[in-house]
Amino acid sequence: MSEQTRHELRIVDLHVNVDDKPIVKGLTLTVRSGEVHGLMGPNGSGKTTLAFALMGHPRYTIESGQVLLDGEDVLSMSPDERARKGLFLAFQYPAEVQGVTVASFLRTAVNAVRGGDGKEVSIAEFQRLLREKMELLEMDRSFAGRYLNEGFSGGEKKRNEMLQMAILQPRIAVLDETDSGLDIDAIKIVARAVNSLRGPGFGALIITHYQRILRYIEPDYVHVMMDGRIVRSGGKELAEELEEKGYEWLRQQLADQSVAR
Ligand SMILES: Nc1ncnc2c1ncn2[C@@H]1O[C@H](COP(=O)(O)OP(=O)(O)OP(=O)(O)O)[C@@H](O)[C@H]1O
Ligand SMILES: [Mg+2]
Repeated sequence: MSEQTRHELRIVDLHVNVDDKPIVKGLTLTVRSGEVHGLMGPNGSGKTTLAFALMGHPRYTIESGQVLLDGEDVLSMSPDERARKGLFLAFQYPAEVQGVTVASFLRTAVNAVRGGDGKEVSIAEFQRLLREKMELLEMDRSFAGRYLNEGFSGGEKKRNEMLQMAILQPRIAVLDETDSGLDIDAIKIVARAVNSLRGPGFGALIITHYQRILRYIEPDYVHVMMDGRIVRSGGKELAEELEEKGYEWLRQQLADQSVAR
């Protein structure tokens, strides 16, 4: 088998402001293909802000720091370019797109990401890919003909987003998961989509509140974000420990450490 190229998303000392207020305050994290990272943290610690900054949302100002994908400066790329380079970002609140069906949206997305140089995906190939991935995610065929996100339930939006990820096959995916509002089936769908892509060519950063989703997607690393920074990193046992003891336990530990220093 030919050696698969490894990929790397490197975030270095990132500072992000929202309306002049510092929210992400010096975050450093590297996600390589072949790895799944969980990012946890209390409400308001800056997790979604990090995801929006990675997406290139204009409201989120990068004050300083670097984001590199395979050594290339992500922050100077347009959102489209980020996607073409293999970055996939899924959000807590996907938007409705009027008059566009799921299938046609996905086909446009695939061609935007994989196309270029006239290598557009043929209709037959796209149909095959769509069928395969819809089966994987246990989606009804009629779903492909519905208008994007129009009247979708929370779980359907999530399935649609995961279908998009499974079809685009990104190098590095950043998923911001609310957990709340997702029933256990939806969580399993997210897990199935991530696990189906898992391998040497794919890496993921899964942002979550609870350890729940990480039971289905076993992370290689778990990080805890507080007040805009990563304050603790470990293996999957860190998520279990937090679930059991809560963030207050970690806050106390960090306070004790800083007193001892
Ligand atoms: N667009 C915005 N306008 C105003 N404040 C914002 C905006 N986006 C983020 N913030 C503020 O930044 C802080 C961090 O928010 P963020 O959504 O990144 O936290 P989070 O870690 O994702 O929280 P949660 O776990 O609740 O999803 C909060 O105090 C929030 O109010
Ligand atoms: Mg959030």
